[in-house]
Amino acid sequence: MHRNDTVVYDRTHIKAIALDMIAAAFETSATVIVWALSELLRNPRVMKALKHELRRHAAETFRLHPAGSLLPREAIEDARVGEWWIEKGTRVIVNVWAMGRDRSVWSENAEEFWPERFEEREVDFRGRESLMFVPFGSGRRGCPGIHLGLSTVKLVVAQMVHCFEWELPGGMGPEELDMGEKFGLSMPKAEHLLAVPSMSKWVDLAHQGL
Ligand code: HEM
Repeated sequence: MHRNDTVVYDRTHIKAIALDMIAAAFETSATVIVWALSELLRNPRVMKALKHELRRHAAETFRLHPAGSLLPREAIEDARVGEWWIEKGTRVIVNVWAMGRDRSVWSENAEEFWPERFEEREVDFRGRESLMFVPFGSGRRGCPGIHLGLSTVKLVVAQMVHCFEWELPGGMGPEELDMGEKFGLSMPKAEHLLAVPSMSKWVDLAHQGL
């Protein structure tokens, strides 16, 4: 509607624009997602490789940096663990952090971020097959939010890596990044992470239509 040469947006315009945005955004993205999944389903080799790559990277981070690092339990019966005798009723603290860095389990390079180590072994986030890796705890009191937690971490990290080029500030080298931990419920990084994102080459090329 025109009034003194100015365009006035009324409810009809707003509704049309909203409808346009919804249709343009959801229909297109949903169609491409369906195609991507169809191709992956038709090519199990690629599906498996993609899935394993995402899992391997997530697993390696959870191994070195478990957000639940000390899990309290109470022994419900007498038990022997290695050379230790644990009496029923004893308060036991499971050190998940130490389990993830145990050299006798993860080899001499246990402290290294090396996701390839999960190429040879199945990633068992729940500690069902073995108790060498339990970032979500295990058993009846294990984390009920495991699927949401895992999906969130994988989705956000994949998006951030895909969409941006990342650099440390002020010409800082990778080996200078402080990896110190702060003792606390979720064992956060002691120093805040400062990183500089710039537009990813891939996204930039896509914008130029290349
Ligand atoms: C990366 C994300 C997450 C990590 C690393 C994590 C880790 C853990 C760990 C280690 C435990 C203790 C398990 C045990 O004692 O055996 C736990 C418990 C729990 N988590 Fe998570 N969690 C995550 C996300 C979530 C989410 C998204 C939810 C809810 C939607 C959730 C809800 C809970 C609850 C309710 C418990 C207590 C269960 C109980 O005591 O019976 N967690 N989580």
